[in-house]
Amino acid sequence: MVDTLKKPEPQELRDGIKVPAKETVLTPRFYTTDFDEMAKMDLSVNEDEIRAIIAEFKADYNQKHFVRDERFDKSWDHIDGETRRLFIEFLERSCTAEFSGFLLYKELGRRLKTINPLLAEGFNLMSRDEARHAGFLNKAMTDFKLSLDLGFLTKSRSYTFFKPKFIFYATYLSEKIGYWRYITIYRHLAANPDDCVYPIFEFFENWCQDENRHGDFFDALMRSQPQLLNDWKARLWARFFLLSVFVTMYLNDLQRSGFYATIGLDAREYDKHVIKKTNDSAGRVFPLVLNVEHPSFYGHLEECVDNCVKLRAIDAAEQPEFIKTIRKLPIFLSNGFNFLRLYLMKPIPTEQLEGTVR
Ligand SMILES: [Fe+2]
Ligand SMILES: [Fe+2]
Repeated sequence: MVDTLKKPEPQELRDGIKVPAKETVLTPRFYTTDFDEMAKMDLSVNEDEIRAIIAEFKADYNQKHFVRDERFDKSWDHIDGETRRLFIEFLERSCTAEFSGFLLYKELGRRLKTINPLLAEGFNLMSRDEARHAGFLNKAMTDFKLSLDLGFLTKSRSYTFFKPKFIFYATYLSEKIGYWRYITIYRHLAANPDDCVYPIFEFFENWCQDENRHGDFFDALMRSQPQLLNDWKARLWARFFLLSVFVTMYLNDLQRSGFYATIGLDAREYDKHVIKKTNDSAGRVFPLVLNVEHPSFYGHLEECVDNCVKLRAIDAAEQPEFIKTIRKLPIFLSNGFNFLRLYLMKPIPTEQLEGTVR
């Protein structure tokens, strides 16, 4: 279903600085964690692999990659109207997500420096990459005469506390899904160059390799803490995080299908591909993956998509807030019910996937 509700123009905090998008359950989150617990982590079981990934980070393959060249040296005023609004939104959301990674990794690097220098080094090197990614996206926003005040964002956003193990599950998945999102867009545009209406997408090939390496770092960290992967709690949490990440992306992207259409992608097909690939990748480390090819999987997701369209229509209506809340209640219940149905669907234990190409 296409969202046809009228969207307001971006608001400015001051000249050229965009008011950050309102925080909702679907916007990128900022995280904090228990730094002491993380610092005390014993990595010895998998230290060699962790050191090997850090050596890859240090090689810094993308040191000279994020440089704006002549491809950006032109006016982008022809991207206008709704397409322009969607572009700004895409750049802002991507920049916020990258910056959120930067802040978390930077803080971990700082707090762990003396007690767990190996872990701190890994986080510092990842924060270097995320700073480049966020900076490059923020600079791209200036092509549309806006940018984000990242200092303001740091102070104004709320931070979600996650215990270290949840940070591992969530960031591992967000790095891997980030990899699949970037590489899928890159490959599509490489095959269909006429759809490449803005040069940032041409940078995604090398860029996504940073995300892939970051995901591998968390993969190695989780393997150093086998208790995070091999008991019943791990199986329940893996299901929860896989589902949360997939549902959030699907609802976000379908709401913005117009953006994907601008670059010649069908948001639904794009998301299904990214979900399948990320689920397969996760099977290398998680004890199970979701059965995303089950006939009802997307049926439940589509019900949530329809519900979100209804919720936005209620938000846009001229009605007292309490009436809106009452109208929203059954829709929230329906979303909760669909999420539960999805969560209870029989997952696929990873051993069953041994021997298949993943
Ligand atoms: Fe990144
Ligand atoms: Fe990353």
